[in-house]
Amino acid sequence: MSITEILQFADRLVFAHRGKHLDDIQETVIKGVWQGKTYENIAQECNRSESRIRDVGYQLWKTFSESLGEDINKSNFRSTIERLQIQEKSSICRTNCNFNFGSQTLYQYQKYSQDSQTKDTAKTTFQDLSIAPTINPTYFYGRTKELEILSNYILHQKTRLMSVLGLSGIGKTTLVKRFIDLNIPQFDVVIWRNLKLVKSLNSLMTDLLKKISLQNQNILISDEQFTQFLDLLSRQKCLIVLDDVQNIFISRKFAGQYQTQHTEYQNLFQAIAQTEHQSCVILISQEKAQEMTALDRELYPIQCLELEGLDNSAGIEIIQEYKLQDRDYWLKLNNIYLGNPLYLQYICTLIKDIFQDLASQLIAEGNLIITEEMKLLFDTSYQKMSDIEKQIVLKISKSDENLSIEDLKKSCSLSSIDIINGLQSLKRRYLLNQIKTNNTLFSLSPLFKEYMKNFQMQN
Ligand SMILES: Nc1ncnc2c1ncn2[C@@H]1O[C@H](COP(=O)(O)OP(=O)(O)O)[C@@H](O)[C@H]1O
Ligand SMILES: [Mg+2]
Repeated sequence: MSITEILQFADRLVFAHRGKHLDDIQETVIKGVWQGKTYENIAQECNRSESRIRDVGYQLWKTFSESLGEDINKSNFRSTIERLQIQEKSSICRTNCNFNFGSQTLYQYQKYSQDSQTKDTAKTTFQDLSIAPTINPTYFYGRTKELEILSNYILHQKTRLMSVLGLSGIGKTTLVKRFIDLNIPQFDVVIWRNLKLVKSLNSLMTDLLKKISLQNQNILISDEQFTQFLDLLSRQKCLIVLDDVQNIFISRKFAGQYQTQHTEYQNLFQAIAQTEHQSCVILISQEKAQEMTALDRELYPIQCLELEGLDNSAGIEIIQEYKLQDRDYWLKLNNIYLGNPLYLQYICTLIKDIFQDLASQLIAEGNLIITEEMKLLFDTSYQKMSDIEKQIVLKISKSDENLSIEDLKKSCSLSSIDIINGLQSLKRRYLLNQIKTNNTLFSLSPLFKEYMKNFQMQN
């Protein structure tokens, strides 16, 4: 088969599946992989980042797998297509149907994709994503590994309660929405809610029950709503996202504790994990609660994905969008701002506004620059901390060294148990780094430390 035939074949599959023809970068990836090149080589040849090329590949293999009903990836792409061609050639001889991979009609594959598409769209009977963000795949970078992890937990391991956790701005909401965009046909019902906008658990339950039970089923009084909800989760395959779960946690206490009016959520989350059903609830939160980790993973299908910053190539893609001038400093910028896509957006805007598009000028300032928007995010985190945590972060910020529990005991007027619980709570807020040497040491991220020095230590 010539490369032109492969590209034509791939184009038809992609068009039948997504309604769009192959773009230049997709063609380059298919060509490169067919010729046995690595993603790294392909990336160099077309002057793109390796992570971008990997993402394009990931999407292509997914489309091909779904269209052809076979698991296709980079390493088996060529052999599978060649095998299918041989099989189809022999089926042409048997059935005399009009089908080949070349320039002729491709009836069967188009029919197959159309059938599978009809089946796919027919599968989702209800979706309400009205308050979920719209993600443009062109501007979604990296996270290939994380998308695979989510697919594995949610689609293959049938996780019932999945938490996606991490600092504000790290990309939790975006990642989950991208996962949904890629996998929506796998579910009967998909609903996205944000706990910032929900008044009470009662109103959430009533709302979800109304949406899921399309049959105008009577909505029961609140006591029995849990049971009715769990019953619906077992009858249909639902994916329910609850974003910004940290809003139901109390301030000035350790992380992940429910506000008094929201304690029933804890029972709901436990019931979702412990009851037999075929659905998945995804919790997105900046704070980790006890219910988000399984005491016994074998017994209860609970998983959590703790998000870190974007890798270098994905971070650089974000910086590139701002058309800053001095590319040599982009990597450093991504490292300073921890690959946090929101921090990168803030800092690139500042560089454009004040430093004539030159990252080097901002870096030359010497001090870490905390933008006003970052300060507001850190203010919110600081205000949510308990007094014990505040004492601990103040001590760590004042020290030039990383500190051990012993160091903290000597310098804070806190009991051992307070220090240990305080450290655990800070970890559950993703604000504390743990350095695992012989003696465990603790530090803050340089940015948060800088915030503490500038805005909290004068108080
Ligand atoms: N993988 C990504 N590629 C490009 N931009 C991203 C990515 N993840 C997040 N962003 C951007 O970063 C910002 C913060 O992401 P968001 O998902 O809202 O963070 P979180 O929910 O963790 O607070 C958004 O503007 C989003 O578009
Ligand atoms: Mg979010």
